[in-house]
Amino acid sequence: MRAVVYRETGPSSVLELVERELPEPGPGEVRIRLVRSGVNPTDWKFRAGMMAGHDEVTPGQDGAGVVDAIGPDVLGFGVGDRVWTVLAQHGRPYGTAAEYTVQPTDRVVHLPIGASYDLGASLGVPAVTAHRALTSGWRGPTRLAPGAMEGMTVLVAGGAGAVGNAAIQLARWSGATVVATVSSDEKGALAVAAGAHHTVNYTVGGAGHTADAVLAFAPDGVDLVVEVAPAQNNAVDLAVLRTHGTVAIYANNGGDELVVPLRETFSKNLRYQFIILYTLDPSLVAAAVEDVYAAVEMGALAVGEDAGVPLHHYPLAEAAAAQDAVEGGVVGKVLLDVSEE
Ligand SMILES: NC(=O)c1ccc[n+]([C@@H]2O[C@H](COP(=O)([O-])OP(=O)(O)OC[C@H]3O[C@@H](n4cnc5c(N)ncnc54)[C@H](OP(=O)(O)O)[C@@H]3O)[C@@H](O)[C@H]2O)c1
Repeated sequence: MRAVVYRETGPSSVLELVERELPEPGPGEVRIRLVRSGVNPTDWKFRAGMMAGHDEVTPGQDGAGVVDAIGPDVLGFGVGDRVWTVLAQHGRPYGTAAEYTVQPTDRVVHLPIGASYDLGASLGVPAVTAHRALTSGWRGPTRLAPGAMEGMTVLVAGGAGAVGNAAIQLARWSGATVVATVSSDEKGALAVAAGAHHTVNYTVGGAGHTADAVLAFAPDGVDLVVEVAPAQNNAVDLAVLRTHGTVAIYANNGGDELVVPLRETFSKNLRYQFIILYTLDPSLVAAAVEDVYAAVEMGALAVGEDAGVPLHHYPLAEAAAAQDAVEGGVVGKVLLDVSEE
């Protein structure tokens, strides 16, 4: 089979397309013939700096395809099942940028009827992260479903990003009022396409202006902020959060250090919830996967321009260009076309 690998960390030029033996599934594992591989920031960040002790790594946490072989003791999957992956390459060197991947079944999820492989390969990292962010508040649900966030207002910072987009779609499905910050009118249109009720351009007029604009849409304040750039946005978040609100922080875009003014923070009983998928409790990943499956089945999670996520397809052989596009901040979802459907 063809597989993308890297044998040393560094720029995208360390990625090579090579031939490898077809892997065989062991006990509790299935083999997936991949149709699409989803590219996320984590893929280029690992390639740039981490091998985690492996001699060779095939990148890619997210992917979608068809089960084509089953190992011993596998329940719930059969040859021909359409599936997507969650954290496929976490703690192991076999990711989705290859024609086939062998995965333990707890990293494999059925793809509902009618859902495309493009969508399946876009779910794992963005939607599971968004789910954890939306369910991490003191006020609010631990599971997402229609009505679960009724009466709540959520601020999604960076609503045109991949995680931001999934957060908007899931919050809207769950009944929340959604405000999103963006850096341009074009990104505002994408956030609205995803389901945001209101958008604010955070690049106009500074933190005070942004906070006032958010509060104009949410006069009682917001219950939860889904935060991609806490070092830059903390002043806005403190100004717009209601008592017992939560900042759910999943990234360090725009700065690695967060300065927290204590009095404003404890006087509102605020909660900061930090999030990283790699150490997230398996029960929380499983809950997210179930709810994301339900949202997809109900047609509430989608990709493409109409859902605020323009798609960018690259052939498997151009994995380096695909990772560079993500690193360069391309707007939308980058996918590797691995094989025909
Ligand atoms: N913790 C985890 O487990 C986890 C999971 C998934 C992703 N991540 C991380 O999350 C980050 C985003 O991932 P992604 O896939 O969503 O990337 P993406 O599609 O490139 O989106 C990043 C978004 O961040 C926005 N942004 C940057 N600075 C901002 C600011 N000061 N205020 C508001 N928005 C701001 C950008 O919007 P503008 O260009 O409009 O500013 C952009 O829309 C990456 O660093 C990634 O590594 C972490």
